[in-house]
Amino acid sequence: MNNLTHRLPGLNRLLLTTLLVSGAALFGGDQAKDLPKFDGNLQKYWNDACARCHGANGNGRDNNGKPLPDAGFDFTDSRKANKKKDSDWLKVTMDGKDKMPAFKDKMAEADAQKMITEIVRKFAAKH
Ligand code: HEC
Repeated sequence: MNNLTHRLPGLNRLLLTTLLVSGAALFGGDQAKDLPKFDGNLQKYWNDACARCHGANGNGRDNNGKPLPDAGFDFTDSRKANKKKDSDWLKVTMDGKDKMPAFKDKMAEADAQKMITEIVRKFAAKH
């Protein structure tokens, strides 16, 4: 009994670590959860709603340069990006595709179009 009490802090730490790790895995597995509605600020909306999958710089990497699991496309790759049409990107943003969530309930089509020309296209232009 005495022995068990003595070992409890270690057990607790182990349990806590296990909970934290599984919690992080759950969160990471559902990147589309809790997507906010468009609030009129394109750059802020990119950071709040898109960067979790596409990265703040659109290159599909987190702030430490680690590849994000649900990025899907590297917007800084201008060779590839230049082959894509705005109209196709608008459709994917509105209707979603595979792991890319649909944003038609979150933002108007005109705002999504602006997001593409003013934010998404510029990731490639910077490189
Ligand atoms: C849950 C993760 C996730 C979020 C959030 C997300 N995307 Fe995506 N997006 C993806 C994935 C994955 C793909 C690739 C889909 C495919 O082709 O299978 C993609 C593809 C795209 C494409 C098409 C790229 C191509 O293949 O030509 C555009 C444009 C795009 N996303 C814009 C956005 C914008 C704008 C936002 C925020 C308003 C956003 N995404 C939020 C995951 C996400």
